[in-house]
Amino acid sequence: MNSSLEQLKTRFTQALVTAFGSDFTETDPMVVPASNPKFGDYQSNVSLSLAKQLGQKPRLIAEQIVKHLEVTDICQTPTIAGPGFINLTLEPAYLTQQLNTIQIDPRLGVERTKQPQRVIVDFSSPNIAKEMHVGHLRSTIIGDSIARILEFQGHDVLRLNHVGDWGTQFGMLITYLREAYPDALTTAGALELGDLVAFYRQAKQRFDHDEAFRGASRKEVVQLQAGAEDSRRAWQLLCEQSRREFQVIYNLLDIQVTERGESFYNPLLPAVVQDLERLDLLEEDNGANCVFLEGFTNKQGQPLPLIVQKSDGGYNYATTDLAALRYRIQQDGANRIIYVTDGGQANHFAQVFQVAQRAGWLTEEVEVVHVPFGLVQGEDGKKLKTRSGETVRLRDLLDEAIARSQADMATRLKEEDREETAEFIAHVAQVVGLSAVKYADLSQNRTSNYIFSYDKMLTLQGNTAPYMLYAYARIQSISRKGNIDFEQLGADAKILLQEETELVLGKHLLQLGEVLRDLEQDLLPNRLCQYLYELSQKFNRFYDQCPVLKTEEPQRTSRLGLCDLTARTLKLGLSLLGIQVLERM
Ligand code: ARG
Repeated sequence: MNSSLEQLKTRFTQALVTAFGSDFTETDPMVVPASNPKFGDYQSNVSLSLAKQLGQKPRLIAEQIVKHLEVTDICQTPTIAGPGFINLTLEPAYLTQQLNTIQIDPRLGVERTKQPQRVIVDFSSPNIAKEMHVGHLRSTIIGDSIARILEFQGHDVLRLNHVGDWGTQFGMLITYLREAYPDALTTAGALELGDLVAFYRQAKQRFDHDEAFRGASRKEVVQLQAGAEDSRRAWQLLCEQSRREFQVIYNLLDIQVTERGESFYNPLLPAVVQDLERLDLLEEDNGANCVFLEGFTNKQGQPLPLIVQKSDGGYNYATTDLAALRYRIQQDGANRIIYVTDGGQANHFAQVFQVAQRAGWLTEEVEVVHVPFGLVQGEDGKKLKTRSGETVRLRDLLDEAIARSQADMATRLKEEDREETAEFIAHVAQVVGLSAVKYADLSQNRTSNYIFSYDKMLTLQGNTAPYMLYAYARIQSISRKGNIDFEQLGADAKILLQEETELVLGKHLLQLGEVLRDLEQDLLPNRLCQYLYELSQKFNRFYDQCPVLKTEEPQRTSRLGLCDLTARTLKLGLSLLGIQVLERM
């Protein structure tokens, strides 16, 4: 189904061409949702922008457009306001017909993209043996939602976990492993490191204070890179241990992602440097091989170098990203590559993209996007920490959210004098707790920092997951109360829009497709959150004012249809945020 916006754009273009000739076939008709409901549903300022070109007063242009605008099947008669704005109000009969169409569509009227792309979303990407911190949590939640949205729109999405599983720290880690857990290398399953982060800290301690250990570590790196068998085995053990810990988090959060860590690109790194050399982009700087960047300068105004090979011959984060970018374009056939990391890496990506472009690997046909996000802060506005001042472990953070949601629920059940099984309580608490964490993250504009507050994210009021889940469950309770099977309602539930609150809700229900189409471009999941939040509010207003079960036919079935559509829209929208609904809570 074409959205009303698309249909109106087409009609506007037709009117422009009829009024002013075929030169205007490509002119953007500038139809947008109205900035204020008092102007109707949509508006166009195109007459103002054409004034110069046509040498006419905008108001006169507007009049000519309106004269040729054939929209009687969609809108009420267009009106012209002020200097020449054209305002449009959708016709209830049109809305009714659209709603009845989306009702029998599992995609709720959201069309698949006409230009499916091969998209890579690079997200989560924690580092082996280091802790997976709140920054990785943000990347995981935002990246997963972006991937879900693009998949739903019909793109072919490859979700990649660019795990930090390579680099000089492995020399130190393996040396420490040999020393502290020698059995691990000979006996299968002997390694129960438990807390790898503590292990990393101990290894670092030795590295910083023990000269001999440092020497051994350096040798170990060389051996590992040369492919020595027991070094590789030790490396593998460390990776597996970390992987198990990451997987616990992914399982809890329902995240699918394919691991393709930095080590994957290791064999490709020498060729990257050679090619840069061959393309005459490489320069030597203090013994390191680098590319001097355009538009990045130091304080003295001199161009900054991007090091791709250190003076000891080793490669770095940037080299790996260059190799990865080339591989993703040439081998994976990606048209669009999306990197979800904290804003602090913006320069890194801008530099890598520039070099890849100058090398000719990154062409016009491929879009690369860095999707940056802000910091997660504690309630004091500082870096998130535990009470004793340590960094918060993700596992603990998620468990705490679940525990608090369980406590909230216990209070609520008591107040309502309800009895529920332990199993039910545990399930609801887990869904609500984890959704709250995801939603709190996604509902902010991702570029700003946000304050992590269990109290705020778990409250039943406002733009929170519990509020949204509650709206959904409330609708399901209507069907239980009235003994209605929404699925049986199907095509028979003809929707009529009579009351103002019904009209407002109906219009909103038809906008999901437009919201998702915008999201494909701007990759801002908070827009979807905002849409769903407004949907819940509009539903609540409707439900307060329009009796559903206690009204006569044909309103009763129509209103049940609106309830069902709202619930399905919430369920679909939340699923694109990685949030699962509850029939009862
Ligand atoms: N491992 C990195 C970190 O923890 C993130 C990697 C992001 N992806 C990339 N292709 N560089 O900061």
